[in-house]
Amino acid sequence: MNISQCTPTPIVLRSGPQRAVLTDLLTSIRSCRNETYALWEHSLAVAATARQLAAQLGLSRELRRLAYLSGLLHDVGKSAMCYATLFKPGPLTTEERTYLRLHPQLGANMVQDLKTPEILDAVNCHHELFDGSGYPFGLQATQIPILARIVGVADYYEALRESRPYRPLACTHSEAIGIISTLAECEKLDPMICAHLEVAVGPNSKEPVKLFERFSIFFELSVSYSARPSVYGSTGTPSSRMRIPSGSG
Ligand SMILES: [Fe+2]
Repeated sequence: MNISQCTPTPIVLRSGPQRAVLTDLLTSIRSCRNETYALWEHSLAVAATARQLAAQLGLSRELRRLAYLSGLLHDVGKSAMCYATLFKPGPLTTEERTYLRLHPQLGANMVQDLKTPEILDAVNCHHELFDGSGYPFGLQATQIPILARIVGVADYYEALRESRPYRPLACTHSEAIGIISTLAECEKLDPMICAHLEVAVGPNSKEPVKLFERFSIFFELSVSYSARPSVYGSTGTPSSRMRIPSGSG
């Protein structure tokens, strides 16, 4: 089936219960951070790259939007996990690694109320690998939903471009593209999607930066925070570290 011809679930975000659910989910992501890793910043970057990849692949406007939202929400399950393990600076034990691998399914449970199966599948399957060696289900190739494959590639690229406790120096764009190409060659990541990555994240991307959408999300979050200061406390205030990822849209 031609991906661009499939009909996605319409998602209503400007009003109604889906908007309230989305606001709560975004607030959870926003609160998940420490000194060296902010899930919100990573999620914004993954969302933008996922949408750019969807555009390069010729997907419909609605699927591009779903790719963006799936990127925003892909790691929402981490916000419900033990922060001491999530942000542990040293190597993880086998038990801790197994625990952190629960985040896709935790996230899938959290996004259920959006009633958007494409997003649920993308959140649940974003760590599946093209050769079947991923988790949680060991799906392979086109068994993995297209948005999950797109978000998976975007997640890998953006993770390489960020510094992490275990890798203080972020990769350059060229280094990251080289690593992704290797992962595509050995079929860890979908080669067809990876082939579009360099253009998708470069200056000739088909998808222009949509600042209005970004700022509407910031506004939505600020309303949400001011409404519930006692729940989120000091971690709920806008971060001075917040940035709009460059070259994304
Ligand atoms: Fe993840």
